[in-house]
Amino acid sequence: MTHELHADRILIIDFGSQVTQLIARRVRESGVYSEVHPFNAVTVDSIRKFAPKGVILSGGPASVHEAETPRAPDGLFDMGLPVLGICYGEQTMVAEMGGDVTESNHREFGRAMVDVTDTCPLTDGVWAPGQTHQVWMSHGDRINSLPDGFRAIATTDSSPFAVIANDDLRFYAVQFHPEVVHTPDGAKLLANFTHKVCGAGGDWTMKAFRDEAIAKVRQQVGTGRVICGLSGGVDSSVVAVLLHEAIGDQLTCVFVDHGLMRLNEGEEVVTLFRDHYNIPLVHKDASEMFLGALAGVDDPETKRKTIGGLFIDVFEEEAGRVGGADFLAQGTLYPDVIESVSFTGGPSVTIKSHHNVGGLPERMNMKLVEPLRELFKDEVRDLGRELGLPDAFVDRHPFPGPGLAIRIPGAISPEKLDVLRQADAIYLDEIKNAGLYDAIWQAFCVLLPVQSVGVMGDARTYDNVCALRAVNSTDGMTADYYPFDHAFLGRTASRIINEVKGINRVVYDITSKPPGTIEWE
Ligand code: XMP
Repeated sequence: MTHELHADRILIIDFGSQVTQLIARRVRESGVYSEVHPFNAVTVDSIRKFAPKGVILSGGPASVHEAETPRAPDGLFDMGLPVLGICYGEQTMVAEMGGDVTESNHREFGRAMVDVTDTCPLTDGVWAPGQTHQVWMSHGDRINSLPDGFRAIATTDSSPFAVIANDDLRFYAVQFHPEVVHTPDGAKLLANFTHKVCGAGGDWTMKAFRDEAIAKVRQQVGTGRVICGLSGGVDSSVVAVLLHEAIGDQLTCVFVDHGLMRLNEGEEVVTLFRDHYNIPLVHKDASEMFLGALAGVDDPETKRKTIGGLFIDVFEEEAGRVGGADFLAQGTLYPDVIESVSFTGGPSVTIKSHHNVGGLPERMNMKLVEPLRELFKDEVRDLGRELGLPDAFVDRHPFPGPGLAIRIPGAISPEKLDVLRQADAIYLDEIKNAGLYDAIWQAFCVLLPVQSVGVMGDARTYDNVCALRAVNSTDGMTADYYPFDHAFLGRTASRIINEVKGINRVVYDITSKPPGTIEWE
């Protein structure tokens, strides 16, 4: 079983592009397992060990003319494996194979049109000679001449080598980014690479993954006891259902209600897991403990650390109550596992300490069960559907572990939480009514510690400001604010101001990430 699912695999060598993970996702969407490895950790030996059907060289911020340029590992081009170079990956392939690449004084960035001039397996059935297609470009260097054996398949006004091919070697390269949605045919081109060029099958499905993951969990856990923190988010819900299928009553789920959940969220989670799935669930109402410890705490990092510490305390106590646990289940995903290439050197700075139950395994001497370690978020959602989780759980927007505490800048209080819950429920209601919930990655209200003067009826008000936030993102690393139309914003603002006592002004946050973060704290 394991052999089947991962047998046909693609290796993606990362040169540090912001969108390398998207390449892996598109490849997997074509039914082929893929992994991302940083260029400086890959050698011919490690590639042989990984045994891919083909290799993709990602884009990256470097120029092939810089002194310390990242390179494909020595010997890669002699291994007889198919290779697809993307953007910087094309330039490094061309430079290393004997072509000529120069620095260009202008960066080609954004939408471009390619003119297709020839055929090859990469474009087969997708693009035909004489056609023009939209792609997304982002590159600085310019290719002047191709290595021997290569020919151009498509061109743009500023790059004569937008797609190149060497069919004998099975080397292909594109100047644009096929992995982003702004290249509408990009997914098909990548699927051509995996299937037609590399000859990979389509074994990677969440149906197959489910069976394999269940078998692996059984093997890892044996007769041990597993404890799993359930937050109501899609990752922990999928972990819980998968583990329950695998090990039944050896699993205990703990739902810690820290008093920082959205409106009715606690009851929804408990009802689903206890009644619908019949999964043993400890519902721990710890709101007094959390709210007490957070009273007067206004520093964002102190808030996060306080919450993280209390989670660990509650978990430890509950695990003790069920007679101890040998394993802790966590919803770690593949993006947390991928080691991204850092071009600035040194460890990256902590922007926010994200809460997870990280300190727990050491403190309690537990081993980790992480059945989602290989998956991207959209694969987790597919797996959730495969496991029969209701859409309301599978498609739920991400919700941070510290909950509403980080959506009230400064010190929190039960009153403020109550006001925020009401506003948030109205905002999500309007989003759902407008049919936009699934088009948005994450949306929520923030209750600002700012009061402003207003007038309602004949009376003066002096109440809080509420900020609306909505973003689109892939995995939360970068994000764009969602472009609501004004009528939607006006309708939502007026409902919140009229229906929620304590808010008399609503603003919309149009900050992208970077430079902002998604949450306000
Ligand atoms: P930021 O604010 O860092 O958020 O741009 C990126 C994504 O992560 C979520 N987030 C968290 N998730 N524990 C979590 O489980 C946390 O402490 C945490 N902080 C932020 C945030 O909601 C967004 O989806």
